[in-house]
Amino acid sequence: MTPAPSFKRRLLGYLRPYLFPRLAALVAAMLVLSATNGAIPFLAKGFINQLSGLRNLTVVRTLSLEILGLFLIRAGAHFLSIYLNAYLVQRITLDMRSQLNHALQRLPLSFFNRSPTGAIASRVINDVRVMVLSLSGGASSLVGDGSSLLAVTCAAIYLDWRLALIALIGFPCAVLPITYFSRRMRRMTRSAQKQLGGLVALLHETFQGNRIVKAFGMEDYERVRFNAELERLFRIHLRVARIRAATGPMIETMAAFAVVAVLWYGSSSVVLGTRSAGSFGAFFAAALLVYEPFKRLSRANNNLQQGMAAAERVFEILDYPTDVPEDPAPIELPHGSHRIELHGVGFRYGKRRVLRDVNLTVGVGEVVALVGSSGAGKSTVADLILRFYDVTDGQILVDGIDIRRLSLASLRSQIGLVTQHTFLFNDTIRANIAYGSAGRGEDEIIAAARNAYAHDFIMRLPKGYDTVVGELGTRLSGGERQRIAIARALLRDPPILVLDEATSQLDSESERLVQEALEYLMANRTTVLIAHRLSTVLRAGRIAVLARGRIIESGSHEELLALGREYRRLYELQSAPPADLQGNGGLAG
Ligand SMILES: Nc1ncnc2c1ncn2[C@@H]1O[C@H](COP(=O)(O)OP(=O)(O)OP(=O)(O)O)[C@@H](O)[C@H]1O
Ligand SMILES: [Mg+2]
Repeated sequence: MTPAPSFKRRLLGYLRPYLFPRLAALVAAMLVLSATNGAIPFLAKGFINQLSGLRNLTVVRTLSLEILGLFLIRAGAHFLSIYLNAYLVQRITLDMRSQLNHALQRLPLSFFNRSPTGAIASRVINDVRVMVLSLSGGASSLVGDGSSLLAVTCAAIYLDWRLALIALIGFPCAVLPITYFSRRMRRMTRSAQKQLGGLVALLHETFQGNRIVKAFGMEDYERVRFNAELERLFRIHLRVARIRAATGPMIETMAAFAVVAVLWYGSSSVVLGTRSAGSFGAFFAAALLVYEPFKRLSRANNNLQQGMAAAERVFEILDYPTDVPEDPAPIELPHGSHRIELHGVGFRYGKRRVLRDVNLTVGVGEVVALVGSSGAGKSTVADLILRFYDVTDGQILVDGIDIRRLSLASLRSQIGLVTQHTFLFNDTIRANIAYGSAGRGEDEIIAAARNAYAHDFIMRLPKGYDTVVGELGTRLSGGERQRIAIARALLRDPPILVLDEATSQLDSESERLVQEALEYLMANRTTVLIAHRLSTVLRAGRIAVLARGRIIESGSHEELLALGREYRRLYELQSAPPADLQGNGGLAG
């Protein structure tokens, strides 16, 4: 890995594409604004001098026009600074979210197993927003208020350095409380953002599980749970608000001392006649002008801290290590028939051993069935072949090459997957079938649907292939969803098939039809067929029985029956189900 650039350098990196002309113009506009701030005391001095002594009307007119011009320039600069600031904020937000999404798509499955969907979404939406808004607010205050402060301070020193010194003596005292607050601010923001993520995750879960919430009468429980989380977020936000609220008045109090000191010393000298009213008035205007940017600058630090806290959370995702790394010089798996071998494969989820010493060969065009009781590790084998996880022991070979040496994209492009839990996107049926098969024609999509025995029910839907299926396909039945998923795999026409319980949700009638479609699909394809129901398995050339993560027996249906061990036990369990459970679960073969 390349060494991580420092945090601040990394943040600045997001500005780099916009340095010229936009950021340059923004800074220029802000500097113009500040410079006009610096000019105000001088114009004020001119006016006061005219009023208190010189009384020249031409000069008064020129001065008035100058002030008008000054405000026109300010107006232009002000517009530009707000507009360009908004442009950069929105643009960088877009960049960040896009980069984050890109990074998330590459993250391993193990990451998604660990983090609730809502919490991830919250980082992409909320953390990026807080990060960009707070940092840009802080940074523009640093530039804008910083330069204003500088301009006005210079003006004050130029006008009267003795008074300036008195006014400025308080500034260093402000540093201590500001640094103290900033540390607390960062911590509080982190926990606020984390809490917000948890809240979104909770919402997401209760909406998605709404059927269960309702069925189990848990509405009140969920409401109380959500309110407790809201209450916690509220308390964290109050703590943040206390810091924000305290910063301003704290600085104000310090400033009051300085203002009083200047007023006292300055007016005394005017009364004693050692200083003109004009120069004191101008200086006093400058001192008051110092005060606003200084106060804002102290708040800028709060903003920067909030932004950095959110940025840390964003970077955590960007820096999350992948546990299925791409080989530095990956081999492209050519299109064609393939042979899959598992050699002494072991796998652990964390500390939990799920597979051990699994040896399995699926020859070119061969169908090998994987059976076994629930939790035996069948779906895990499928996940390993697609490299959703890497094996912890042994290796998986495709055409004799370790799949860790293959490019991920080329490996996966050769595999058609039908998973145990069918996933459909909230899109049209057509788009769901054509997912991952760009450029296929309408007739091919319909042919795939026909072969998956989905065409008829699709045509009965109000909008046919244009029907939107709802989130996760909620507007379809379980069996309908599964047939769409099979059509998806059919259309992709891959040389390797991984079918996990492909027919588990079909009734006996459609199961028989889909069986035939699958048989047609499996012809000349290297297939790993995972099934509970042994009716499916009868079509396989070879059957491997998995129990507690090991392959304990393998052979043909007859051989395994004759062996009279686990396979026979499973077979007999399914052959003689209790009468009232017969139907979907029965053995069709
Ligand atoms: N993401 C995960 N993290 C930790 N453990 C997991 C994870 N997924 C599965 N397991 C565990 O691994 C074991 C094997 O799971 P797997 O899904 O491979 O079983 P299976 O044979 O497909 O079962 P079924 O027939 O019920 O689908 C199970 O004991 C399961 O609890
Ligand atoms: Mg499974």
